[in-house]
Amino acid sequence: METKENKKICVITGGGSGMGLAAAKYMPKDKVIIVSGRTVKKLEKAVSELKELGYEAYAHACDTSDRQSVRKLAEYAACMGEIKNVINAAGMSPAMTGQEQLLRVNALGTVYVNQEFSKRMNKGSVIVDVSSNSAYILPKFLINKKVYALAETDEEKFLRKLIKISNLPKGQYEKAGFAYAFSKNFVIWYAQKCAYEYGQKGIRVVSLSPGLIATDMGNLEKESGGDLIPYTAEQRMGTPEELGYALATLADERNGYLAGVDILCDGGSINAKNFKKI
Ligand SMILES: NC(=O)c1ccc[n+]([C@@H]2O[C@H](COP(=O)([O-])OP(=O)(O)OC[C@H]3O[C@@H](n4cnc5c(N)ncnc54)[C@H](OP(=O)(O)O)[C@@H]3O)[C@@H](O)[C@H]2O)c1
Repeated sequence: METKENKKICVITGGGSGMGLAAAKYMPKDKVIIVSGRTVKKLEKAVSELKELGYEAYAHACDTSDRQSVRKLAEYAACMGEIKNVINAAGMSPAMTGQEQLLRVNALGTVYVNQEFSKRMNKGSVIVDVSSNSAYILPKFLINKKVYALAETDEEKFLRKLIKISNLPKGQYEKAGFAYAFSKNFVIWYAQKCAYEYGQKGIRVVSLSPGLIATDMGNLEKESGGDLIPYTAEQRMGTPEELGYALATLADERNGYLAGVDILCDGGSINAKNFKKI
């Protein structure tokens, strides 16, 4: 008989839509899926889709930019069984909001998710943090790891420093774009940091950086952020299903040796500079 204790739990932040929801649909059916995000209606729709496919699934609202909210989600998940997989796909993009919220949701949200969940996870579990190929376009000399480290010690200083540097370009969208790129560059760095810290407990941490993907967010960014599409190998956007499959694969325990690395899943757009004129 299956008891609460031996249920295997997969939590997906940002699981109400896009690649998070697509990832849920590729998870093995012995996992109990918890989809999370801020909009309850969206989560309920996702749960009914997952149930129709034969999953045991639940919705739990959470704002990842609020540590208390993330803690409650992690406690809820831990009460349901053993947390085996966390796919942290919650995120916002430059067309949706400004610099501060981008950094709070994408960067500090990753700190809260990794910290609050890892406390409640055991050997053989995994956290997959979603970054972006935007993380790769920042000039290297602007990336300051000392500033990134402030995310764990002085959040307000961390935000102040990154907002200041993301004010460099002209134009509101460009400033938000820079903040987004920094938030996602931070995600890669932080997932790597956590991989070495949590590795001692047997928790694997890895990140994945999508290119432009035809989700609600990707479609919103297409007009202003679609310059890289011609530079993908197949000259197209990715689909949520392709990214969902990649995320579910990274989150699979059988991929046990993949840790401390970012997987660039962008149709080849970032590496095009080596082969095509950009
Ligand atoms: N699509 C792309 O082209 C692309 C490219 C590179 C990277 N990414 C990254 O991929 C991830 C998934 O995005 P997607 O493309 O699948 O877009 P999506 O369909 O818009 O999914 C993002 C999800 O995150 C949730 N979310 C946003 N802010 C949140 C918060 N503060 N707390 C909790 N949940 C929050 C949203 O739900 P609520 O609004 O209801 O909270 C939404 O369901 C994001 O991290 C994004 O930055 C996307």
